[in-house]
Amino acid sequence: MTIDRRCFIEGAGAFFGAACLAGCGGKLKSAFPPAGGGNAYSVAILGDTHYDAEPESVYHSHYDESNKWAKVQHEEFRRNGEMWRTRCPALLSASAGISHSSETRFVLQLGDIIQGDCDDVPTHKKMLDDCIKLLRTPYPEGLPFLTVIGNHDFRGKGARQAYLDFAGKFMSEEIAKLTGAADPAHAEYPAFSFRTGDDLWVFCDFETKDLRPVIECIESGAGARHVFLVTHGPFTTPDGGGSCRWRLAGRRESAALRPKLYELLSRRHAIVLSGHTHTTAYYRHENEFGGFCEFTANSVWSKPELATAQPLCSSAKEYGAVNLAKLKGEKLEDFKSELEFFRPGLKEYFYNKGAGHCRLDVADASVSVSFYPGDAKEPARTFNLLYS
Ligand SMILES: [Fe+2]
Repeated sequence: MTIDRRCFIEGAGAFFGAACLAGCGGKLKSAFPPAGGGNAYSVAILGDTHYDAEPESVYHSHYDESNKWAKVQHEEFRRNGEMWRTRCPALLSASAGISHSSETRFVLQLGDIIQGDCDDVPTHKKMLDDCIKLLRTPYPEGLPFLTVIGNHDFRGKGARQAYLDFAGKFMSEEIAKLTGAADPAHAEYPAFSFRTGDDLWVFCDFETKDLRPVIECIESGAGARHVFLVTHGPFTTPDGGGSCRWRLAGRRESAALRPKLYELLSRRHAIVLSGHTHTTAYYRHENEFGGFCEFTANSVWSKPELATAQPLCSSAKEYGAVNLAKLKGEKLEDFKSELEFFRPGLKEYFYNKGAGHCRLDVADASVSVSFYPGDAKEPARTFNLLYS
């Protein structure tokens, strides 16, 4: 039997094989046992972290100054160095503190874990290694740490292969630790999945033009209690930025299959977890297929005042208001058309530029995420992520 490496299912033996077949074009449609009780758990969530260090020479001594984005990127190095001096370590410590005192099953970081821009493969690898070591240290020893591919994670010369090599090994080891799978897993993009308890977790490269691997992985979860889709770039058209198409299924090449992914997420009442926009956002979609929820997290605590849960938008009728007020010309028209894909089904919406850490709580009849602004030890807001 050939096992498609996109499908990683907890367990071994016959059940493992059956579950994989279901996700790889096989005929089995229900590979999961029915959801049972007592299978509640929590996940510590970090949004983008853009790990970096001062001075610039630590990771950017090989940086190619002829890069046309050099001015912007040097500003990002400065921002990262400053926020990682005190605020981000405090945020991390607060997230870990909650994990020590609760039933946390794993840590989930939503991509752009590092800044990148090293332009040197050994330095890029060192940035990844240093970052993982730093980020996981405060958490309980042995707690699995998962991260999804973001655009910064492979930014720089030779960096894409360096990241894929890192992710293939690191994520496979962490998933094996989480699932207890005897067989070594292979975390390969554009999409792969695994199961913890009765739940299916799908990780994808948000920049993939071909949505079929993502769809296949979600379809492999027939019978799963909950389906989670982890994508660095949001699926729902985000507000507040100039590049609204830089998201999962935002490319024109993905347009044909986007409705199918939307329908599938809705039928499965899926939960989408994303980052990328450096904003905190919540979307609840409801349509003729059912519905799904998406939450976008942000841990880029670049200014003290971003430790806030005060909304800039707090109802579906405000969806798009931020960009509609600032975009012009072709960008405005394109944004309007992208909004219209989601607007009719959007029933709840929250948006702000807040940064912090989050905690996901999963149970049979409920899934929610709590937002802790900055290094808060108490949640400021909790969002229901389970469509019902
Ligand atoms: Fe990003």
